[in-house]
Amino acid sequence: MADFRTTQKDTARRRFLSTALAVTGATGAVAVAVPFMRSWPSARARAAGAPVEVALGAIAPGQQVLVTWRQKPVWVLRRTPDMLQRLRSGELESRLLDPDSQADQQPEYAENPVRSVRPDIFVVVAICTHLGCIPNFRPEVGETPFDPRWPGGYFCPCHGSKFDFAGRVFKGVPAPLNLVVPPYRYTQRDTVIIGENPTI
Ligand code: FES
Repeated sequence: MADFRTTQKDTARRRFLSTALAVTGATGAVAVAVPFMRSWPSARARAAGAPVEVALGAIAPGQQVLVTWRQKPVWVLRRTPDMLQRLRSGELESRLLDPDSQADQQPEYAENPVRSVRPDIFVVVAICTHLGCIPNFRPEVGETPFDPRWPGGYFCPCHGSKFDFAGRVFKGVPAPLNLVVPPYRYTQRDTVIIGENPTI
């Protein structure tokens, strides 16, 4: 788990940046720019790896925001009860390559069926584990051009890899691994800080 450990010095002195870039609605069809106050650290510091704070209050069930952390896109999705029910039902397991997430693609505190600390909030790096494209958020359920029994999740348009709402990869697609869950922790203010592990 050493890869997920990041320096947590001076956190009380830092003012982090909320860098939500877009919100995708439940239809998956609309991306809306969401402005956030920006102050410190600088763009150079952010690019170098400063943690990113995301306010959860503005994310409705079924929506996700896209932020940038260490020059990587990261989604923060507020899953709906229906999404969670499908993840927990076991109905997808036979279609998934690593349903129990045995590959080291998440911190220890996200090693569970929904791959998250809080069940409703899913934080994941938005980079396909095949060749690095950004998958599309496809929350609809049913027949789609790429899957006759699509349960909702993420579809990579580059070569057709598919992931569920926990970022678990389907069998029979080019991507070899589940999506990566980055280190993150919650604050008292209903925010998540991406790039820092929880304090014990
Ligand atoms: S990069 Fe996603 S399937 Fe190839």
